[in-house]
Amino acid sequence: MAYELTDEQRDRYRATAIRSQLRKQELLRFHVEDAEDGNHQRFGERLDVNELMPQLAPNGLTSLSLFSGGGGLDLGFERAGYKHSASFEILDICGETLRANRPSWDIHAGTEAGDVRAARFTPFRGVDVVHGGPPCQPFSVAGKQAGADDPRNMWPDFVRCVLQTRPRAFVAENVPGLLDRKFESFVRDNILTPLENHYTVFRFKLAAHEFGVPQARRRVFFVGFRSQRDTARWLQPVSTHGETDTLFGALQPFNLARQSLGLPEIGFDQVSPTLRSGFTGPRNTTGVLNSKAALNIWNQLRVWPNGVQPTHSMARAYPPENGHFRMSVADCALLQGFPSDWRFSGAVYQALGQIGNSVCPPVAYAVARQVARALGVA
Ligand SMILES: C[S@@+](CC[C@H](N)C(=O)[O-])C[C@H]1O[C@@H](n2cnc3c(N)ncnc32)[C@H](O)[C@@H]1O
Repeated sequence: MAYELTDEQRDRYRATAIRSQLRKQELLRFHVEDAEDGNHQRFGERLDVNELMPQLAPNGLTSLSLFSGGGGLDLGFERAGYKHSASFEILDICGETLRANRPSWDIHAGTEAGDVRAARFTPFRGVDVVHGGPPCQPFSVAGKQAGADDPRNMWPDFVRCVLQTRPRAFVAENVPGLLDRKFESFVRDNILTPLENHYTVFRFKLAAHEFGVPQARRRVFFVGFRSQRDTARWLQPVSTHGETDTLFGALQPFNLARQSLGLPEIGFDQVSPTLRSGFTGPRNTTGVLNSKAALNIWNQLRVWPNGVQPTHSMARAYPPENGHFRMSVADCALLQGFPSDWRFSGAVYQALGQIGNSVCPPVAYAVARQVARALGVA
């Protein structure tokens, strides 16, 4: 904290900040106007995320999105063939992202139109699938784990939407901490008890790198079906990427971070550490560093997890002093499994917040596909 610094420390930090700012200005002076396209030659072939989730033909199912954020779940469902019904999201900047990428979607965003706690869902009765990631601060390891007492617990609103719209299925996503034993009674009281009278609920965890995303990221999913026939057809998504063959056939090799970013070989590569979620750590930082342990991996990857830049050209023009690769927003989006044509609105910290909070679209796609199969249409 600022008041705990000695004068000497304060002077040293101030000098470092000024030196770094001057260096940035100097480096950027000649480069900011570089055309984005002109900088792609520094990359080798980059991972094409769309290949992880080929667009499926329309399956006749509709999906309603709550807590939509920057659209990870929405995009995965769209690519799995669903027709987007509407999105509800409280942050205007997320609404801008969704509208800019999909002008034809029905987006309810902002504190008035987008607040799930105040939304009327009866007009959406008849939608096939409701999906969403109710805010997860109460459960994340980084959060205080206050559970049901936390005012940010929005599970009751997700449940209300499901009970009001009566979809054939629902999909809810959250952080793995929610399955810890200490939250057993929370899960029972807030999710299972209100829903299990009407739905059969499955719980499972998925790891993004096992679906081709070049990042270590685990999430928990709750999937529910209203009819017994759909329940009987449900099969949890099976990994597509891994190190060994499985009973289900050969797996594709993991997509590693450097290789996916199109960076030259350095004799070390692995999936990137988990990108920081927008709700952990200082809010306005332009870094994606999640933990001290992660820094060690980023260092071995020779990728710098701080000072993410808006564009490739700005990142290239401002290399970190240790010579590691500086990322742009597009690089972070790629590590999260977003295709290059999905753009995030807002300043860098806002884009990183949307990216870090999202469900990796290829993971959303895998779940959406299995749900469609259970509903008998794919
Ligand atoms: C974990 S993120 C969801 C990310 C999204 N599922 C995706 O895949 O990109 C949770 C989102 O809920 C939004 N949110 C929080 N409170 C809300 C409320 N009362 N109504 C609507 N959205 C809310 C947050 O702004 C945040 O974008």
